[in-house]
Amino acid sequence: MSTQVPSHDEVALGHSYDGIQEYDNPLPGWWKWTFWASIVFTPLYIMYFHSGAAGRSVEEQYQASATENTRKQYAEIGDLASDQPTMVKYMQDPKWVGVGQSIFKANCVSCHGADGGGNVGPNLCDENFKHIKALPDILKVINDGVAGGAMPAWGKRFSHKNDVVLVSVYVASLRGSKPAVAKAPDGSPIPAWPAE
Ligand code: HEC
Repeated sequence: MSTQVPSHDEVALGHSYDGIQEYDNPLPGWWKWTFWASIVFTPLYIMYFHSGAAGRSVEEQYQASATENTRKQYAEIGDLASDQPTMVKYMQDPKWVGVGQSIFKANCVSCHGADGGGNVGPNLCDENFKHIKALPDILKVINDGVAGGAMPAWGKRFSHKNDVVLVSVYVASLRGSKPAVAKAPDGSPIPAWPAE
């Protein structure tokens, strides 16, 4: 350690501890500036992001733009028909199955598990179903709900009809997949989905 010789603009404060003297060295201007700036910034930040106003968190902004993006993509396909040929067609198309998956992730995982293995609601990956015998039944169950609302009616909740069709396509695609946690089968085995 080298001994620092005080320069002419350093003012000794006039006390010493064990022979160590203290000089009045002001903090650098940039340091004080960031200190004051952070004090001014903090309440503004808290008011903006933590006031509970909707749509301000990064997650909500992401969700909003993801939804907006899906809407733009819907312009590509127009209004999908709620029928079996449409489902069979879109089941072949990974892009639209993926849109169905994102709708599932946002609305269904709390009751059906992250990968459809079942929770409060039944396992959607096995060969057994309670309310479904053919593809259009999936559309109907999701649109209208069953069991007195234990399975909610999504037709009223989704802002676009295509949401029901594409989430149905995704549900149909789950059949035969291996979920991480699989609930025991409910209902009875049903015939295979029709081929393309
Ligand atoms: C609040 C919990 C809950 C949510 C959220 C939920 N479901 Fe369900 N779902 C259920 C329950 C419970 C049943 C079974 C009803 C019964 O036992 O009759 C069910 C049944 C189903 C069935 C019929 C299964 C069969 O075996 O016949 C399908 C398909 C289905 N849900 C799809 C979905 C989709 C897609 C979503 C999201 C858009 C969703 N569910 C969201 C609770 C839920």
